[in-house]
Amino acid sequence: MKSIVILISGRGSNMQAIVQAARKGNWPVRIAAIISNRLDAPGLAYAEQHQIPAVTVPSRNYPDRTAFDRALKHEIDRFSPDFVVLAGFMRILTAEFVAHYAGRMLNIHPSLLPSFPGLHTHRQALEAGVKLHGATVHFVTAELDHGPIVAQEAVPVLPDDTEETLSARVLEVEHRLYPAAVLAAVESRLSISNGCVRVIPESENHLTLKESA
Ligand code: GRF
Repeated sequence: MKSIVILISGRGSNMQAIVQAARKGNWPVRIAAIISNRLDAPGLAYAEQHQIPAVTVPSRNYPDRTAFDRALKHEIDRFSPDFVVLAGFMRILTAEFVAHYAGRMLNIHPSLLPSFPGLHTHRQALEAGVKLHGATVHFVTAELDHGPIVAQEAVPVLPDDTEETLSARVLEVEHRLYPAAVLAAVESRLSISNGCVRVIPESENHLTLKESA
């Protein structure tokens, strides 16, 4: 059975969507720990309520990124996870940290990458006047919000949208897309070749990802 560690910084709604999907679907996965870089992350209480080890590595206690990333790596590796799942983990990671988890660290970003990396993606989308926005699950590389794309789903941008209405529409997609991508990872249905991800469709029909071309 594969194991995963999920990293959060706040609310943790994507983490909750993954935990719920894993439990409901009897996934072949152990959610080994939820790790937060913030002591006050609301998602930590959810982990505890669901009997998942909740660990904090407060980023503000470390003098620089390198020191923090080393401490974080130490905590993650205590659980020997097959995959590290970033779910609203608001940190820029060092190249050393990213290299250690190459090919086994996933992130979700609330835009159709490569459009709108970084913060305030919904504001960026509204200012650019795009008619489609969405979410992307990708493998993590040293470049921010970049890396082989596992899954994407688009939502329409409506004429009266605000950052709030648009982010709510995207979040609904995230809660479906990320569990499906994590399931594909733990079922060894993802392969990367020349920077592109091939997704082997699952045989069962409960959660599906559209296969990339
Ligand atoms: C999500 O929109 C995620 O894509 C982005 O930050 C938000 C985190 O939300 N990186 P949550 O903590 O999963 O509720």
